[in-house]
Formats: sequence, structure tokens, C-alpha cells
Amino acid sequence: MTGTKEHRRVRFDPFAGGTALLRLLPPNFAHQATLRMLRYGLTPRFTAPDDPVLAISLWDLDFSNPIGMSAGFDKNAEALAGLLNLGFGFAEAGTVTPEPQPGNPRPNLFRLTDDRALINRLGFPSQGVAAFARNLDRYRRSRAGGGIIGVNVGINTGTDDPEAEIARCIGELAGNASYITINVSCPNTPGLCDLQESGRLAALIARARDAMQTAGCDRKPPLLVKIAPDLSDDELADVARVAADEGVDGLIACNTTTMRSAGLRGPGVSEKGGLSGPVLMQRSTEVLAQLYSLTGGKMPLIGCGGVASGADAYAKIRAGASLVQIYTALVYHGPRLVSDIKADLALRLRADGFSRLKDAVGADHGR
Ligand SMILES: Cc1cc2nc3c(=O)[nH]c(=O)nc-3n(C[C@H](O)[C@H](O)[C@H](O)COP(=O)(O)O)c2cc1C
Repeated sequence: MTGTKEHRRVRFDPFAGGTALLRLLPPNFAHQATLRMLRYGLTPRFTAPDDPVLAISLWDLDFSNPIGMSAGFDKNAEALAGLLNLGFGFAEAGTVTPEPQPGNPRPNLFRLTDDRALINRLGFPSQGVAAFARNLDRYRRSRAGGGIIGVNVGINTGTDDPEAEIARCIGELAGNASYITINVSCPNTPGLCDLQESGRLAALIARARDAMQTAGCDRKPPLLVKIAPDLSDDELADVARVAADEGVDGLIACNTTTMRSAGLRGPGVSEKGGLSGPVLMQRSTEVLAQLYSLTGGKMPLIGCGGVASGADAYAKIRAGASLVQIYTALVYHGPRLVSDIKADLALRLRADGFSRLKDAVGADHGR
């Protein structure tokens, strides 16, 4: 790609400049400032129609492109219109907890700038499900209120009934969610990842389905489960089996990792928490490919972890992802990244002879 005229041209990018300035601020402060700018319409709009090659239909939803904002950025569903205006095909809000909670004490978010990575141990700061539901409802009633919005649900720290908490969030939010993700994979909430164990996962999913039934909405949103990259092969096989048996509609691979790769640099490396960014790309794509094989390519998968370019997004798709999410790369590359990834992805699809994104999903498996 670097040989083309387009890529040799040096262009002034005010958004990259703004992103670099934000990185001079402490990470939590920069995050809050960005959220405010998105909320009050002070961020750029990249709303040109998407290249039709990027469109994909999943469940009963039509995505104009497969690139989504992943969970954890807009935890309280405050900035949905601003996020979608960056050119995302969808955005996932949350993780929301039933009751408001402050999260872990600061410092709880660290930049590993040399590695373009982050370590976070935020621990689900949340305004709680009631405030989240109000925000989402306000968004849905607003003029901009369409768009595909996933809702990512979790639990309060210290709960003794996680299944009931997940069920409560689902019951309150199902009516306005395009899809719902059960988060059983954030490493910063004690006990949460244990819900990935097969027996508990099956019980949790059954409970979640009941909650959706009881909520009585006209449309039942697809139910997804987001998993950790740190599961063993056996654990992954169990998750895939339970997901298929319990009729889960999709899996998101992956959340952040507690592993630390050898080559990491910078002072934040020894901080506890979940690591994200390019160092996660390889492992999260392996997990994705394994899930694709384990589910026979039949279950929609969302690839997440380390995506920072069109090439990365394409690799996830070829490994089995129907959709791709990003977070950390936005912090380092700025809002233009979404358009850049989409443009490059469209080029790559066509160069390999795909006229529809769907045909490239799982292409590396030779189906
Ligand atoms: C600061 C931060 C907060 C996050 N919070 C959540 C969260 O609340 N819920 C969740 O499911 N994932 C959360 N994540 C994980 C991301 O959604 C994503 O799965 C992970 O960062 C890997 O993608 P990336 O390498 O593109 O960042 C968070 C990630 C970061 C960096």
C-alpha cells in the first residue's frame, strides 16, 4: 500500500494533532474530555455513505460497515450520536452495572505509548442501569436516534448473585438495544471471569433469556457473550459448546488480557489490569479463529483486540469475524482511523475478488 500516490502524500491532519494533544493529558481526564466533545457535537463527522462492499446483514440488523466502537468507551450511553458520526457501523455502550458504582481508585488507566497499548483496571465505573436506560431512551427518541447500538451488561463489584444482576440489566435495557452483550471477561471485577465456566455460563444464559422473555419487548435483541483471550483451548471448546447449546446469537472475542508479552516497554508495564492494543492482536485473532472452527462457522463472531488498520480488520474477518471492534487504536490514531480502516478494508476485499464482505468471513478456513 505504501507505494501508491495516495499513501505517499503527506497530509495535514488536524484530528491527529488534537489526538496528540489529548494524550498530553492524564488518561482518565483525556477520556472524559473526549466523551464530552462527542456528546456536545464538538468532534468531526465522517458521515459519507459507506462503500457497499462493506455492508453486511446479521440477525435482523443491516450494518453499513463492519467497524464498531467496542465496549468500555461510552459506559453510560452518553455520546452515541457523536460516536456513530465518526463513521462506525455500530457502537457498543457499557459495561453498565445494576447500581451506580465508582469503579476502582485512580490511577486505574495507563498508557504504554511506545507499544500503542493501554492497561486498565477501571473496574466498571457506572452510573447504574437506571441512568443508562434514561440516556439510551433519550437517544432513541432523538432525531439522530437510529443506528445500531449494542448494550454491554455486567455486575456490581462484590455482588453475591451475578446472574440476577445480569438479568436485571437485560430486563431494563432489552427494549432499546440492537443487541445485548453479556460481559463475562473483564479481568478487573473479582469473580466475573468465573462465569465463563461451562455450567455457570449455561445457567447465566438461561437466566438472561428468561429476563428477555419477561421484559416482553416486541423485538428480542440478539444475545452475545464476550469472552477473554486468556482461556485455555479446553475452556474455549466449552464456551463454544455451551453457546451453541444455549442458542447464543454471537460471541465477541476478545476482552483485554491479563498476560504480559515479553517485548512490552514503558513504565506502566508492571501495572495490574487488562492489557489492550496491538500486542493483543495475535492472541485475540487465534481465539477468534478457534471459535470459528469450533462453531463450524455458523455462529456470528465479532473480532476485537489490537485492530489498528485495515489490514488488521481484514485479518479478523478472514479469521472468522463478521464484525470488528476497536478501542485502543482510537486513542493513539484519532477519529480519522475509522474512515481509514474502512477505505483500506474495501480495497483489500476487492483486491482479493470479494464483492461482498460476507464472502470474506472465515476465508482463511477455506470454506
Ligand atoms: C479503558 C478501557 C476500558 C474498557 N472497558 C470495557 C468494558 O467496560 N466492558 C468491556 O466489555 N470491555 C471493555 N474494554 C475492552 C475493550 O472493549 C476491548 O475488548 C479491548 O480493549 C480490546 O480491543 P482493543 O485492543 O481494540 O482496545 C475496555 C478497554 C479499555 C482500553
